[in-house]
Amino acid sequence: MPADGAATDRAGSSNSVSSPSSVLSSRPPDVTVLCWDTLGDPPSGGLGISCTLTRRLTHNSQYNNGGSLIRTSRTAVVVNQFVPGCRSPFMECPQHDEPFLRSSPRGTVATVVAKSSAGGGTMAIDLQATRDVVDVMTGGWKAQALYTAVKLGLPDQVAAGRTTSDELAESTGAHTAGVRRLMRLLVAMGVFDGDETTGYRGTPVSEALRSGPQSMRDMCLLYGEEFYAAWGHAHHSISTVSSGFEVAYGRSFYEYLGEDADTARRFQATMNAGSMFFHHVPDAFDFTGGKTIVDVGGGGGNLLATILAATPDAKGVLFDREHMMPKAGEHLAATVGLHRVTLVGGDMFTAVPTGGDVYILSRALAGWKDDAIVRAFENCHRAMSGPSARLLILDRFVDDDKPSVLPALWDLHLLMTTGGAHRTLHHITELLNRAGLNVERTGELPMEHLAVVAAPRLAS
Ligand SMILES: C[S@@+](CC[C@H](N)C(=O)[O-])C[C@H]1O[C@@H](n2cnc3c(N)ncnc32)[C@H](O)[C@@H]1O
Repeated sequence: MPADGAATDRAGSSNSVSSPSSVLSSRPPDVTVLCWDTLGDPPSGGLGISCTLTRRLTHNSQYNNGGSLIRTSRTAVVVNQFVPGCRSPFMECPQHDEPFLRSSPRGTVATVVAKSSAGGGTMAIDLQATRDVVDVMTGGWKAQALYTAVKLGLPDQVAAGRTTSDELAESTGAHTAGVRRLMRLLVAMGVFDGDETTGYRGTPVSEALRSGPQSMRDMCLLYGEEFYAAWGHAHHSISTVSSGFEVAYGRSFYEYLGEDADTARRFQATMNAGSMFFHHVPDAFDFTGGKTIVDVGGGGGNLLATILAATPDAKGVLFDREHMMPKAGEHLAATVGLHRVTLVGGDMFTAVPTGGDVYILSRALAGWKDDAIVRAFENCHRAMSGPSARLLILDRFVDDDKPSVLPALWDLHLLMTTGGAHRTLHHITELLNRAGLNVERTGELPMEHLAVVAAPRLAS
């Protein structure tokens, strides 16, 4: 396969491919096109491959697939779907031993699959796969470009009306040529809109990165600096199941936070920016009925304040390490008022405040070993007001059977930073059972968080 991913036709000549349409318009007229068509009726098979023929297009016909116009050079075969047994998503067509197109699962024609006779055998080249690999490999570059934009304050500057590279360079102290090249990429990535002539404009993405409360700016800076450095040791971290951060900085993440007030502030802001799911928690669990809510490892009090604001008849207890009390007190005083809250400093592995109707553990389990977590569960169980009390766990869970990207990514991210891990729901269920608690139900929350409601197991 050519190093640059170019398609190679049967005769062995190589065509550079930038898009399906450019392939089709530039190829000699011996191309067969296969593409998904979710619209067509599936009459019958007959191609000798595991797909259903729905439409055959002739030479130079045009076919509109989800907005992209495909011009065929000779014959186009539109297939409805691969049937079980097919090596989907890659497909070979013995009757059409020629380059062909297929669409991506997203429904647009995006993949050029060519066959090469180089070396005597037939080699399939899947250009979509090549593209996918490149997209993943360059993800870190995009992250660094976004980080640089935030570091330079470009989202704020554009919002303030500086809309050309000259103006942005002047206001940020960066070189115009560098800003121009960065802006070109950021427009392509959807961070900004516009161009040098009409001026750059913000988008919802750049808005989310402007300074201010709930901004993702601090998160972007932390991810682009300390966390990026930690991920630089991914190979070591994954191979040894130990923190990459410690390799990069020579001390643990939490020690580093203790020594660097600015990063500690950024980390708190990062946690807040990642807390957009808090507003949905009162929909996932009924806190009404005069309940006492104990937020264990409640951090800066953001979640408790959100729940109490949505539940006027509830009272709260904010429980965390002693050093968190001033910060949490400040936030709760400024939001729901300290008359509705008790602040308790302590260690959840020793004991938690008694008499609660709901105990919450939000994002507080990842860094701990199983036995410690069972102890925290037991302490919550023991402290509950009675059998109708509940433990509510809010977290991300990994799924070994149906992995999805965000929880799996954050699981590795925990490894890079603290050496921690996300667990599966099955695993947490086992730990709850060990503490005499049963999972009653679960509910989905935004950004792939899950609410797990656990009830005390009744003696039979
Ligand atoms: C990742 S933060 C989560 C904060 C908050 N629950 C949230 O979802 O934003 C974990 C919290 O657990 C607290 N914590 C750690 N060890 C603790 C312990 N032994 N007892 C009580 N809280 C603890 C930390 O101080 C921190 O506030």
